[in-house]
Amino acid sequence: MERIYITTPLYYVNAEPHLGHTYTTVVADTLKRYYRSIGYDAFLLTGTDEHGDKIAQAAAANGLDPKAYADRVSDLFRSTWDACGIAYDHFIRTTDGYHTKFVQSVLQKIYDAGEIYFGEYGGFYCYGCERFYTEKELVDGKCPDHQKAPDYISEKNYFFRMGKYQQRLIDALQARPELIRPERYRSEVLAFLREPLEDLCISRPTSRLQWGIALPFDSNYVTYVWFDALLNYVSALEHRGGESIAVLWPKANHLIAKDILKPHGIYWPTMLMAAGLPLYDHLHVHGYWNMDSGKMSKSLGNVIRPLEMKARFGMDAFRYFLLREMAFGQDAKFSEEALVTRINADLANNLGNFVSRALAMQQKYFDGVVQPLSANWASEDVKLRDIFAAAEFDLKSQMEELQFHRALEAVWSALDHANRYIVQTAPFTLIKDAEKKARVGELLHHLLEAVRTLSRVLAPFMPETAVQLRDLLALGDDGLNAPWGQGFAAGHKINPPKVLFPRIESNGKK
Ligand code: MSP
Repeated sequence: MERIYITTPLYYVNAEPHLGHTYTTVVADTLKRYYRSIGYDAFLLTGTDEHGDKIAQAAAANGLDPKAYADRVSDLFRSTWDACGIAYDHFIRTTDGYHTKFVQSVLQKIYDAGEIYFGEYGGFYCYGCERFYTEKELVDGKCPDHQKAPDYISEKNYFFRMGKYQQRLIDALQARPELIRPERYRSEVLAFLREPLEDLCISRPTSRLQWGIALPFDSNYVTYVWFDALLNYVSALEHRGGESIAVLWPKANHLIAKDILKPHGIYWPTMLMAAGLPLYDHLHVHGYWNMDSGKMSKSLGNVIRPLEMKARFGMDAFRYFLLREMAFGQDAKFSEEALVTRINADLANNLGNFVSRALAMQQKYFDGVVQPLSANWASEDVKLRDIFAAAEFDLKSQMEELQFHRALEAVWSALDHANRYIVQTAPFTLIKDAEKKARVGELLHHLLEAVRTLSRVLAPFMPETAVQLRDLLALGDDGLNAPWGQGFAAGHKINPPKVLFPRIESNGKK
């Protein structure tokens, strides 16, 4: 059986789940469901990143010790994904005991191999930010956040010999152009690698930070948060046991946004090389969601929360919008207006009306009982079937490129055709002529085949809607895959229509 291993970033617990986190997680879930639907064994990992300065500071600001604070926010991420119906297979926390052990074993291994050394590091340090700044990052010699000149401090730390792997990484990126996708992000990493690659400082002295994984070879230091967090992608598989690392790791597909390209495109592959592990299969990088007004931020009060969206618009409608509106790889704008427009146009009008018309006529003219098809199909019937088959084919190739918006466009163009088929074949007029009743039965049968196909192809994107469609057709899961024209047994009775997507008034009310 083919396999795929899909991961989201581990989200920092200093913020609560918002639009950005939800997008990546919904994409990961959609991919997992899609690969399952084409027969893969698909495994989805998500979780939380809990160590380091930022978290220690956020915990202090909330008057909690870091672990208690991380427990609270990590639970919130997990329960949010549960409520959103995200089908993750494992939720990892970087504070999990097995992860800590794994990080320490990798550190020890590469330390023993001479890949980590102790050295002096000097730089401009801002105590407000608790981090070093390069001269380029300073504005008029000051920290741009704190408007204060940083102190020059020199500190002893442990370094990973990352620079040594520069050429190997360039070679890998050239030999495997698909390693980082879309192409512009691979080019960005290659451009970065044109400058000499420095070694990576992978420790923080406990005098400055205690909230981290202790270095196994020096208890005066904790591990730098990225060196700890990236290893989750492998520690989760090791924890799962059995053949997991051997069979799943080489099939790893990481999903991230462009903000964390450098750690995933440079630190992580060089760490894997040092640890003697194969590289991931793909790193898929998407753009940023921005608000109409610019950035999304707590202080501006414009943070989009997934559970609020779910409560107001329904999870499937929100998923549809996220996947349809953003071209994976590019930035996109979020506005409630755009969301409402899409729900009304694409879901309520197009999809919703199509399904309810087909089902209502079936009910009204035949009491819900599906009518037989004759042996010779009319050309418009063949065309309808072929258009849906072509859309499904197109969808498959778009999914390989993670072009979710195009995959959905393909389905909606078939749906447009199906709506035209109703208008052109006009079953509502033909029914007035008793001699045409058998033809009306056929037309409706083809429409129900379209609904059945929609249920199958939309399942990865809108899982609840897919189940609703299947239930309206009174079919089980196994009824979805039969070829067009063979989905309904003789005498099969379907259910009356119901409103799938109520129109939303401009004030956001259904
Ligand atoms: N903890 C690190 C990742 C470690 S992975 C081993 C981290 N966490 S984060 O909470 O800041 O999450 C960043 C990720 O959240 C982005 O890469 C993206 O997946 C998602 N997004 C957060 N804001 C986003 C937008 N505004 N738009 C799109 N996605 C963004 O970085």
